[in-house]
Amino acid sequence: MIPLSIDEIAQITGAAVDRVADPAALVTGPVVIDSRQVVPGALFAALPGEHADGHDFAGGATAAGAVVTLGTRPTGSPSLIVGDVPVALGRLARAVVDRLPGLTIAGITGSAGKTTTKDLAAQLIGALGPTVAPQNSFNNEIGHPLTVLRADAGTRYLIAELSARGPGHIAALCQIAPPRFGVVLCIGNAHAGEFGSMAQVAAAKSELPRALPADGVAVLNADDRLVAAMAADTAARVITFGRSAGADVRASSVTLDTLGRPAFTLEMPDGAAVVALRLNGEHNITNALAAAALAGQLGMDVGAIAAGLSAAEARSKWRMEVTERPDKVIVVNDAYNASPEAVAAALEAVRVIAAGRRAYAVLGRMAELGERSREFHEQAGMVAARSGVAGLIAVGDEAAPMLTGAKAVAGYTGELIAVPDGAAALTVLADRLQPGDVVLVKASRAAGLQTIALAVAAGGSPTRTDTAGEVAP
Ligand SMILES: Nc1ncnc2c1ncn2[C@@H]1O[C@H](COP(=O)(O)OP(=O)(O)OP(=O)(O)O)[C@@H](O)[C@H]1O
Ligand SMILES: [Mg+2]
Repeated sequence: MIPLSIDEIAQITGAAVDRVADPAALVTGPVVIDSRQVVPGALFAALPGEHADGHDFAGGATAAGAVVTLGTRPTGSPSLIVGDVPVALGRLARAVVDRLPGLTIAGITGSAGKTTTKDLAAQLIGALGPTVAPQNSFNNEIGHPLTVLRADAGTRYLIAELSARGPGHIAALCQIAPPRFGVVLCIGNAHAGEFGSMAQVAAAKSELPRALPADGVAVLNADDRLVAAMAADTAARVITFGRSAGADVRASSVTLDTLGRPAFTLEMPDGAAVVALRLNGEHNITNALAAAALAGQLGMDVGAIAAGLSAAEARSKWRMEVTERPDKVIVVNDAYNASPEAVAAALEAVRVIAAGRRAYAVLGRMAELGERSREFHEQAGMVAARSGVAGLIAVGDEAAPMLTGAKAVAGYTGELIAVPDGAAALTVLADRLQPGDVVLVKASRAAGLQTIALAVAAGGSPTRTDTAGEVAP
């Protein structure tokens, strides 16, 4: 963060100052919400957590060197007291952006692939100059300002992941760090529960192109009708990416290796070059094209982009993590997130990886789907059966509709098993897995199935009750 005094931060956020001996004391950063991450010079933002209240840790934060705590009530330690901590973080972040006129800001939104695209873009753009990008999925009213606050006078590029759970959210995030470049990936059913319909999801995502200035660039997915239509919603210049022939940035001569990693010719306005991605799954071509289109607009040439994409690693965990066990069982851990589109993409990747060998799909609940949740889970079961898995192991509350969907697929002869939890899924797998089999573990992270995927990948002996106990969600 750029250094700001307690007094300046109080003025920016409208905070009352409590127990501060020296209002001129400088906060140099980082801004953290976990008191264990405090280092001298930090600002500790106290938030109510699931298990504990951050305000209770203000004393420890001060002892560790925090200059001040930002909270909603006195803590007994030097504090800035505001009505709403995320709002105050947003104001502080905006003040930092306003003091960094040389900063180029790009926002990325969409129903799936934001983190993957952000990680690819950050690895490309990092070659152009010092780049700040979110950790993991820091994409909401707390994570976004925390990311922005990591920028300082040396930062050239800020890549932001922008998420929406309702109308106005992305517009608010764009107020915090006004982007000149905006990428929209796809419109799907993720968070359909909060929004109601795809059209409403699209309207919310269109807040990013709407926020762009006339000298900005909207980077839009030509393959997604609702995204492509956002060309009408922006004052910015439009550049498109996708598999469609008419896209400005596209892939040709696509092949997939035995682990489902795509290779393709990247075609951009300035030429073409070959890319071999280290990420698994054909859907990652779209994410790579989006990152390429953004990097191209920031001045990178096609050769450098292709080399950068081919070297880029998956930075965030549990997204299509492919592990091959010594006994040649391949485990695909995609348990970070699940939406109908993501489940379909993961099953398609597993079909390619399995290439005729036996595949098992362990599917848990897809969260936040609202009224149509049952229908979406039935569809997921159908997609699993159609992908030809040897067995569908449906975990938890939504197991029944998933199996109903799979049973509706005429001629499907795979095994259909409902289990109450991840530990039970492990036992079922242990009885069945043979060398060469492929296992997909996919659910929203609230289902906790990532621990199951890790246990299967580690090749532990899941039938031992102690192991099953350790890895249970
Ligand atoms: N282009 C895509 N099309 C369909 N599914 C995708 C695509 N990209 C990623 N996914 C799926 O979505 C999952 C989440 O990917 P990622 O974390 O990049 O998305 P996100 O948009 O950041 O999600 P979140 O809303 O949780 O932040 C991946 O594990 C993958 O299964
Ligand atoms: Mg994300």
